[in-house]
Amino acid sequence: MVWCLLSQMTEVQLEMGTLHNFISIHDLVRDDIELILEQAAAMESVAIKRSKELSTKIMACLFFEASTRTRLSFESAMLKLGGSVLGFADVVVSSAGGKGETLADTIRTVERYADVIVMRHPLDGSARVAAEFSSVPIINAGSGSEEHPTQGLLDMYSIKKFKGNIDGLSVSLCGDLKYGRTVHSLGMALSHYDVKIKLAAPPTLRMKPAIVNEMKKAGMEVKEVDSVEEAMKDADVVYMTRIQKERFPDISEYDAVRGKFRISLDEVALMPEDGIILHPLPRVGEIDSEVDATPQAKYFDQVYSGVVTRMAILKMILS
Ligand code: NCD
Repeated sequence: MVWCLLSQMTEVQLEMGTLHNFISIHDLVRDDIELILEQAAAMESVAIKRSKELSTKIMACLFFEASTRTRLSFESAMLKLGGSVLGFADVVVSSAGGKGETLADTIRTVERYADVIVMRHPLDGSARVAAEFSSVPIINAGSGSEEHPTQGLLDMYSIKKFKGNIDGLSVSLCGDLKYGRTVHSLGMALSHYDVKIKLAAPPTLRMKPAIVNEMKKAGMEVKEVDSVEEAMKDADVVYMTRIQKERFPDISEYDAVRGKFRISLDEVALMPEDGIILHPLPRVGEIDSEVDATPQAKYFDQVYSGVVTRMAILKMILS
């Protein structure tokens, strides 16, 4: 557990914790996850009227890898709480990319400009390294193929929001379960709940055995399948992901699996009528655009969960 509960915050009428670094879902227990989901729900109304709570705070976004939703939703979250934002969205324009500055030196510089650092980096372990050098909190916005903990929490929030609860559900994680970091974080978060899980991936992109074992150890019923059809059947939640082309050491391995996992209207017809389809986005062909108009398609609504969940996390860190 990375934070401790300190006080009762009357404004949202909920117990608020303080959080320092947010690096991994592994650092959370179920009560922590529940608290963040409650806080995110409380942020739905704050997001509409906006607040000045963090008006003295500055958030730096250091994105060493491409991003649309993660960076912009963090910025939107900070602005809705009255805070200020700075940073870079392209490593090429930073000294790390243009001049070869080390991550440690970049962090030791930016900590002098900001109260919190949100960082995305292509290397596994990078967020933890940054936290070692930083005197201000580090939020992991994606570290290599390892983890994307705030996405995992916004996915949990979306499941709870659209399905009403998490316990008792059947969830299928589909697509690139090897290199996709969001499914690693989401899978670990789900392991704190009473959830049946199907892992659906091409044989070369299956979930790492260490994570599957961790899920089983947590008491989850885990089934590995190798087709989208299997993933859709009886699923309350289907979580589709992009094949992570940029993380394949050998592009011929990517070509061998490209286009193999795809949801069209035919696949949607296999799932329960009240099932939902989520995707962290961006999609590059793995969900047909005709699916967008079905009641099951919730991936664009899921985007907004990113704003309220990140508002909750920023407030817990900076309040
Ligand atoms: C994901 C990521 O960057 O890991 N996107 C996101 O943050 N919403 C998924 C992906 O890139 O496929």
